[in-house]
Amino acid sequence: MADAMSYKLNLSDLERDGDVSITQQLVDRFAAAIDAGELERGSKLPPTRELAAEAGVNHLTAARVYRKLAELGYVTAQVGRGTFVRTLAPAGSASHGDDWQVYALPPDDTSYSEQVLADTFSLANREGVISLATGWPAPSTYPTQELARIAADVFEEIGGEALSYLPAEGLFDLREQIAARGRMYGYAEDADELVITSGAQQAIALSARATLEPGDVAVIESPTFIGMMTAMRGTGARVIGVPVDEHGMDVDALERLLARHEVKLVGLQSACQNPTGSSISDERRARLAELAVERNFFIIEDRVYADMHFDGKLVRPVRELAPAHVLYVNSLSKVVGGGLRTGWVAARGPVRDRIAMLKLEADFHSPTLIQHMAARWLATGAYDRHVAGTIPFYRERRDALLAALERHLPGEYHADPPEGGHHVWVTLTRPLDERALYAEAARGGVMFTPGGAVTAERRSQTSLRLSFSLLDPDQLDEGVRRLARAIREVRRRARHSVAAPMS
Ligand SMILES: Cc1ncc(COP(=O)(O)O)c(C=O)c1O
Repeated sequence: MADAMSYKLNLSDLERDGDVSITQQLVDRFAAAIDAGELERGSKLPPTRELAAEAGVNHLTAARVYRKLAELGYVTAQVGRGTFVRTLAPAGSASHGDDWQVYALPPDDTSYSEQVLADTFSLANREGVISLATGWPAPSTYPTQELARIAADVFEEIGGEALSYLPAEGLFDLREQIAARGRMYGYAEDADELVITSGAQQAIALSARATLEPGDVAVIESPTFIGMMTAMRGTGARVIGVPVDEHGMDVDALERLLARHEVKLVGLQSACQNPTGSSISDERRARLAELAVERNFFIIEDRVYADMHFDGKLVRPVRELAPAHVLYVNSLSKVVGGGLRTGWVAARGPVRDRIAMLKLEADFHSPTLIQHMAARWLATGAYDRHVAGTIPFYRERRDALLAALERHLPGEYHADPPEGGHHVWVTLTRPLDERALYAEAARGGVMFTPGGAVTAERRSQTSLRLSFSLLDPDQLDEGVRRLARAIREVRRRARHSVAAPMS
């Protein structure tokens, strides 16, 4: 798009003592230049200070000129960006295709992290691409036969009720089943605390919206899961990262942040964290709960991988220690299958009611049939059996990925073996241009999650999240081989560009 900075409006012959005010003369000139196409649609007008200096008027007059132009429909002001010549959509035509929509839609503010997330979904199953970016459970582990039987039983026994509307918080029987587990594992007392959501992602998003408003400060682990970061940023809150190490979120670092900011919400995964695979220590868990109660901030505790611990260790939830402060989030996505879109949040007090109201506004409730199926599946006691059956499967894949890294990138990376979950967090010993690597890897037929998309701050180190759950050991080996080749190619090019003689 043209920039009006490069276009000079002739202001030499403004009539300072004429009948027409200077403001009006300036408005007329801009309008004429826009009508004549000399100032192109979409181009940026000079800042008001610059116009004031050039036209020999004061700053307020310049601002008034732009305001009038806006009223006349010639320009639009975009907060923080400036004033632009209004863009008129080209008439819908064969040559413009659907491009008129680009002009009619609000500005596209898709972030880097959101784009990476979208790639994960769209490229996971593309022919010829090995996706180390996708942490979904493997379809071969899904309890499809059991669920098929259960679906048939549901229709047989309750007929059309399986397709009827429900209250926003979801099916009572499912909430009862989840509450029964919640009482055992310390995350919920009874069904009234639970709101069923469409996956953990919706539970996180609704919890963030219920507790944050624009300008608030929220804290996340860094690195974290993209969806936690984008949900918090989506509220307009300022999102700050604290480090996470082999003992989980660095609670001392959080405490230092609390001294400087009024933090409203802290988001963490207390067990088998995505992407590091680490879990919070007992000490940090206790201190975090204490801080939440002392300082009155909310916590979103995301537990989607918590039961996928390779040693079968049970990490107790933070909610057990601060039930009024913690919004506990989980789903059946990683244990059974993400396509069920069955998640929940356990909370109490007014915040629980707000989340239920937001759920109603968002989509009334999650699908009835699936909730009946999930309730019956849980009632069979299949959950623990199923998880126990999949742990060796994923442990083998984790080990295969670690072995492939050793084979193809010896001495070039650091990675702690994850305690559980579906990912390995890999940091290269020498940094490189992450975006160049992302593009080169995609060209070479392998996807990964770039560290910059899951960290709250810019880092000098280069890290990658590699997911192993969806790929068999041969594919993992081939994926890492392709990745290593892409790393070498990006390093070679970087050397080459530095070595090139300057002309
Ligand atoms: C840590 C974490 N939380 C939440 C989610 C979202 O889960 P769901 O599919 O249940 O919405 C994911 C999915 O990848 C995840 O990795």
